[in-house]
Amino acid sequence: MDPIQLLKRQHREVEALFKKIDKARSAEPRRALLAELAANLKLHMAIEEEIFYPAVQQLPVKKAEDMTLEAYEEHAVVKLVLAELPGVDPEDDRFDAKMTVLSELIEHHVDEEEDEMFKTAKKLGAAELNALGDRMAAQVEAVKGPGATRRRRAA
Ligand SMILES: [Fe+2]
Ligand SMILES: [Fe+2]
Repeated sequence: MDPIQLLKRQHREVEALFKKIDKARSAEPRRALLAELAANLKLHMAIEEEIFYPAVQQLPVKKAEDMTLEAYEEHAVVKLVLAELPGVDPEDDRFDAKMTVLSELIEHHVDEEEDEMFKTAKKLGAAELNALGDRMAAQVEAVKGPGATRRRRAA
């Protein structure tokens, strides 16, 4: 499986969830959507940190090291904000403020991945990329169920 397509699809799912949370005005749907967002982000960051980033990091390109180290740090900040959100009332203005900060942080991070890191990752070559993608898909399916990496979610 192409790991870049897999990661991009997950990025789009996360973006869709941010929009849904913004539209849901009451606490209960917001909490449910937030739990779904957090679970998706956790799994996405795990397959990047455990499988994709280490492969990119060891490419013999100076910027590969820098861009992966920066990406790990950005994930750490995402996790800090995610850890705070369950303690904030979804109907409080602070919830919206935190969600705005989180979505901007993720938007910046996703842009860097899609515009820079994924291009650099192509240097790994098709065979290694496919092997990485298969491992990442297996990890996603272990959590979300068989076929989860092929199924396209309805908007
Ligand atoms: Fe990432
Ligand atoms: Fe990502």
